[in-house]
Amino acid sequence: MASSGLPLLLLLSFSIISAAIPIPKATIFRQQLTSDPSTAATNNDIPPTTFFEVTKPIQLPITKPCSTLLLQHDFGYTYGSPPVTAQYSPPSNCPSTDFDKIVLEWTATCKGRQFDRIFGVWLGGVELLRSCTAEPKSTGIVWTVKKDITRYYSLLMKNQTQTLSVYLGNIVDSTYTGVYHVNVSIHYYPTEKYTKTKTKTLPLKSDHGYNQRADLIIPISRNSPGNDGLWFEIQNSTDVNTKQFAIPPNAYRAVLEVYVSFHENDEFWPTNLPNDFITANNLTGFPGNGPFREVIVSLDDKIVGAVWPFTVVFTGGVNPLLWRPITGIGSFDLPSYDIEITPFLGTLLNGKTHDFSFSVTNALNVWYIDANLHVWLDGKSEKTNGMFLNQQISPLHESLISNFTGLNGTFFTNVQRSIKSTGWVQSSFGKIVTESTQDFNYSNVMVMAKNGNSQIVDQLIEFNDGVNFKIPSNVHSTKSLKSFSFYIYSDTLDKGNKTYAEVANITLGFNEKKIDNFGSKSSSSVLENLQNGQGSMLVKGNLVVSGLGSTQEIYHYGDDEFCYFRNISSSNYTIIYDKKGDACSKPKKSRINFSTAKSRHFPA
Ligand SMILES: *[C@@H]1O[C@H](CO)[C@@H](O)[C@H](O)[C@H]1NC(C)=O
Ligand SMILES: *[C@@H]1O[C@H](CO)[C@@H](O)[C@H](O)[C@H]1NC(C)=O
Ligand SMILES: *[C@@H]1O[C@H](CO)[C@@H](O)[C@H](O)[C@H]1NC(C)=O
Ligand SMILES: *[C@@H]1O[C@H](CO)[C@@H](O)[C@H](O)[C@H]1NC(C)=O
Ligand SMILES: *[C@@H]1O[C@H](CO)[C@@H](O)[C@H](O)[C@H]1NC(C)=O
Ligand SMILES: *[C@@H]1O[C@H](CO)[C@@H](O)[C@H](O)[C@H]1NC(C)=O
Ligand SMILES: *[C@@H]1O[C@H](CO)[C@@H](O)[C@H](O)[C@H]1NC(C)=O
Ligand SMILES: *[C@@H]1O[C@H](CO)[C@@H](O)[C@H](O)[C@H]1NC(C)=O
Ligand SMILES: *[C@@H]1O[C@H](CO)[C@@H](O)[C@H](O)[C@H]1NC(C)=O
Ligand SMILES: *[C@@H]1O[C@H](CO)[C@@H](O)[C@H](O)[C@H]1NC(C)=O
Ligand SMILES: *[C@@H]1O[C@H](CO)[C@@H](O)[C@H](O)[C@H]1NC(C)=O
Ligand SMILES: *[C@@H]1O[C@H](CO)[C@@H](O)[C@H](O)[C@H]1NC(C)=O
Repeated sequence: MASSGLPLLLLLSFSIISAAIPIPKATIFRQQLTSDPSTAATNNDIPPTTFFEVTKPIQLPITKPCSTLLLQHDFGYTYGSPPVTAQYSPPSNCPSTDFDKIVLEWTATCKGRQFDRIFGVWLGGVELLRSCTAEPKSTGIVWTVKKDITRYYSLLMKNQTQTLSVYLGNIVDSTYTGVYHVNVSIHYYPTEKYTKTKTKTLPLKSDHGYNQRADLIIPISRNSPGNDGLWFEIQNSTDVNTKQFAIPPNAYRAVLEVYVSFHENDEFWPTNLPNDFITANNLTGFPGNGPFREVIVSLDDKIVGAVWPFTVVFTGGVNPLLWRPITGIGSFDLPSYDIEITPFLGTLLNGKTHDFSFSVTNALNVWYIDANLHVWLDGKSEKTNGMFLNQQISPLHESLISNFTGLNGTFFTNVQRSIKSTGWVQSSFGKIVTESTQDFNYSNVMVMAKNGNSQIVDQLIEFNDGVNFKIPSNVHSTKSLKSFSFYIYSDTLDKGNKTYAEVANITLGFNEKKIDNFGSKSSSSVLENLQNGQGSMLVKGNLVVSGLGSTQEIYHYGDDEFCYFRNISSSNYTIIYDKKGDACSKPKKSRINFSTAKSRHFPA
């Protein structure tokens, strides 16, 4: 590899392209990295290190939860085996049958050396969690992921036995010794009957029946899983995966929740090179197709929406030392994306089966995608009806400007898209016209320098969704304004003997502002989550022999009732400072001007 006389660009790619893939395949263009040099666990006196993702705590009622340990499994050599399953039924021994909050808890320990592994948790084929494991060390690690799964209430309370499935493809051998010991539990928090001091009622929970929780959740995942996850695998830009489904005749609203993750050649898609550059420099086999990706969701062959995903960096990504113990934004709980399907409901109420299909523009092997269809049913009517009215889709407007000479050059990629769909549904709530919009902007500036030994990528995605429900006497609107920033600077130096040194700085930003208006009532929330990391490392083979990773993160969340702030930093496995607060002392409005959020990364 390093001795083959190929340009150092290849080495650069080794360092950026690392992990969270299901199996290590030693190809020349991709490298998985682990960073604990000792394979054997020696000292049992050292307590395990706790890894975590910075996120706001789940707001819980003061009631005592009923908790169930659903699954306990040691994920050793599980690659290529069917998912691990357990039987699930709603809690039967709980004094209450009415819950305010339901929380999924994943806790795992691991010791030794291991890559990061992607995994998923499904109930009855409905995905509840997409996540990535932490990379262990010889003295052991432990981590917990808690996720509010209350939105899956109707599924969780279904009065029948369902199958809970977990797929985590791990490989254990004499070098990669880490076995993941996992517990999956659910905590059910009974309703606060007498303690409702503050109203938690959102405008949404009112008059026209558009309740927060769906009455039915239909899995849009793989029917009969083979020896892997229930996700569809999208392998290239023409690959389309389809799932048939049917909905009850009295549905009045539908929302498709889409889960996506990207691996192997597309794990670092924002850094993928334009094909012209690959061809001109004889870099065949190098992850290409440029840095833009779009997940397209179609219903019976008509586009209903798109997802321009947040660039999650998995725990072995860029430099594994960056993510110890503070892990990358979204890596322990990957975001899912909602697409309003209600404008199309009229076409689905005929009792027939229909198709959802998924594809990814410019995809390289491999994307894992599936979805959950949340459906609201009219309790007062056996049959609703509706009609799709119209749709305006701007064609994908993509522009690429480049000026490379040999292995140096700059690439500017800009893409825009908007999708607007309208339709009505007649139910016992009246005739409601739903208008759903998605607006996307993308910019990516990629600089290749030092003969391909240095790469800088500065990317910004703006992703806005809006829904208007025009009910007879009022308008209910929801909006989500998202901006996802990704910046990387990396520099690689060949040290000979299959060893190279890499310096990489990274910035990840996840911002979302949500606004909900119902008549004169309104509620809103703002999240700003920014991570900066600086890493250096010496890599031999796929092992990080030495190095240093430092990470700083600032997290701000505020809604009408709750605020959370955290300012934290780690370096060389140690927390340097950690300040938290939950006082809404600052004005609850965003400090980011969403209309001009052009700075691609937001310096601390
Ligand atoms: C899983 O639960 C069992 C039983 O409560 C406990 O002994 C074990 O330590 C737990 N393991 C993890 C990884 O939390
Ligand atoms: C659940 O189903 C069983 C049998 O199908 C039935 O006997 C029981 O009453 C049901 N429980 C509830 C709460 O609906
Ligand atoms: C794309 O992937 C699909 C599914 O693996 C495969 O059948 C098809 O041949 C691939 N197309 C190209 C152009 O590689
Ligand atoms: C690419 O390879 C071909 C033949 O393999 C060779 O003729 C050409 O000079 C090479 N181009 C570059 C830019 O190295
Ligand atoms: C390409 O354009 C960028 C920005 O305009 C400039 O900084 C750079 O020097 C140019 N590179 C080459 C190889 O011409
Ligand atoms: C995208 O950019 C266009 C033109 O600058 C602007 O009108 C639109 O509001 C932007 N959309 C988003 C989602 O930021
Ligand atoms: C690329 O830039 C480096 C300096 O960063 C320079 O030494 C090298 O000659 C350039 N290569 C080409 C092909 O322009
Ligand atoms: C290269 O690395 C191997 C171990 O992987 C070592 O035995 C050898 O001495 C090294 N060679 C040089 C020239 O450093
Ligand atoms: C990377 O981070 C280090 C440490 O903060 C800093 O000294 C260096 O200037 C940064 N490099 C770039 C190109 O951002
Ligand atoms: C976070 O804490 C660091 C260290 O105390 C401080 O320098 C920085 O200004 C703080 N940032 C914010 C936004 O509070
Ligand atoms: C990191 O910490 C270890 C011990 O915890 C220490 O031996 C090592 O020198 C530190 N590395 C750096 C670069 O500070
Ligand atoms: C956001 O930026 C636009 C354009 O620069 C400006 O007109 C507007 O006043 C700004 N909004 C806020 C809240 O600062």
